[in-house]
Amino acid sequence: MGYTREEPVERTSLFNHLETMPGDPIFGLMTQYAKDPAEFKASLTIGVYRDEEGKPWVLPTVKKVEKMIAEDAATNHEYLPMEGLPAFVKAAQDLLFGNPSAALSSRIGSLQTISGTGAVHLGARFLNDSLHPKRIWVSDPTWGNHHAIFDIAAPEVEQKLYPYYDAETCSLNFSGMMKTLEEEAQAGDLILLHACAHNPTGIDPTKEQWKQIADLCEKKKLFPFFDSAYQGFASGDVDEDAWAVRHFISRGTLELVVAQSFSKNFGLYGQRVGAFHIVAGDEQARDKALSHLIYLQRAEISNPPVYGARIVAWILQTPELKAEWEQDLLIMSGRIKTMRAALYAELQKLQTPGSWEHIVNQNGMFSYTGLSEKQVLALRKEHIYLLTSGRASISGLNRDNVALVAKAIDKVVRASGDAPAPAITA
Ligand code: LMR
Repeated sequence: MGYTREEPVERTSLFNHLETMPGDPIFGLMTQYAKDPAEFKASLTIGVYRDEEGKPWVLPTVKKVEKMIAEDAATNHEYLPMEGLPAFVKAAQDLLFGNPSAALSSRIGSLQTISGTGAVHLGARFLNDSLHPKRIWVSDPTWGNHHAIFDIAAPEVEQKLYPYYDAETCSLNFSGMMKTLEEEAQAGDLILLHACAHNPTGIDPTKEQWKQIADLCEKKKLFPFFDSAYQGFASGDVDEDAWAVRHFISRGTLELVVAQSFSKNFGLYGQRVGAFHIVAGDEQARDKALSHLIYLQRAEISNPPVYGARIVAWILQTPELKAEWEQDLLIMSGRIKTMRAALYAELQKLQTPGSWEHIVNQNGMFSYTGLSEKQVLALRKEHIYLLTSGRASISGLNRDNVALVAKAIDKVVRASGDAPAPAITA
């Protein structure tokens, strides 16, 4: 029987002093899109792959392995070790570092994490506690959650922006980036770099530019923190997309860390599969660092979840399945490239003011369209949803909607009288 208080209760709360936090712009927009009752609508919001019907795509290789796991008598739901499923951790290293030599392996420490977000968080916390950096340099712009994760996990570390995006040309502002870092970065600062398929701009440095960034990190003693969320998803080739990380390591002089996500390249968004890697100067330092990371992991999540990691390990460790998965990757990256070209062609056909070549030159999941906030908000009235920054998730396009999306873009651009990415004059 419950207890009923006789006298009236005056309710109050210890939490009323809190300011309401703004919702997440990406997930918030997804909800807004879902609620839109319009018959025609298009979601170019969150970075998830959609097929030609605009539906989520469970990779055929993943489906196959899920069946095998279900039928495997050895499958159980025991705790994983704190550092994660050993077969997964090894497969994640091999994929990222390209089957590292024994000498390199002895310097790599890795843990399974709650996808890329968990890996960035663990890395932020670990570097904060172990290196006590004063600053972290992040690209302007970067994935919004990078800021929030560092706010929470390393609140004392000042977040500084390095120029990255040139709004005039919708391309990389490489000279601005290098100049700022050269002049303002200090020894011991962290620098966050997107390994490939930069989010949100879709613009990556060339190999020559990556070499110069590595030179700068060496010279200025900056500590590289790579976020690798799209390996294989960007170019369709896992080795090509890992080139920058491997180049930094090949120099032999740099210690670094990498946050790795399997959300996009395996389509395992909700399973939260990821890894954090440290490449230390020597084996002893690696072992010490790993002991701290395991200590943090125990306090934060105890052990990572097993299901998605089992799928990834099974695929990557079975050569025929790995080859099939590489075909799945090509399907995803290929369809996105086709949609970039289709959107560009439609805008050309409409002679929409401005130069739109950047849509095909950019890479990976997103295009930074150059559309202004005003134009983006006008597009929402046409039931087309992209982030107010102008970031469009290209896989939301398909044969059925691309012409209509282009028509709506053409309409809002003409109405605003403001052409994004004006044609570049030599
Ligand atoms: C995105 O940028 O849309 C994705 O990485 C999803 C997310 O968590 O923000």
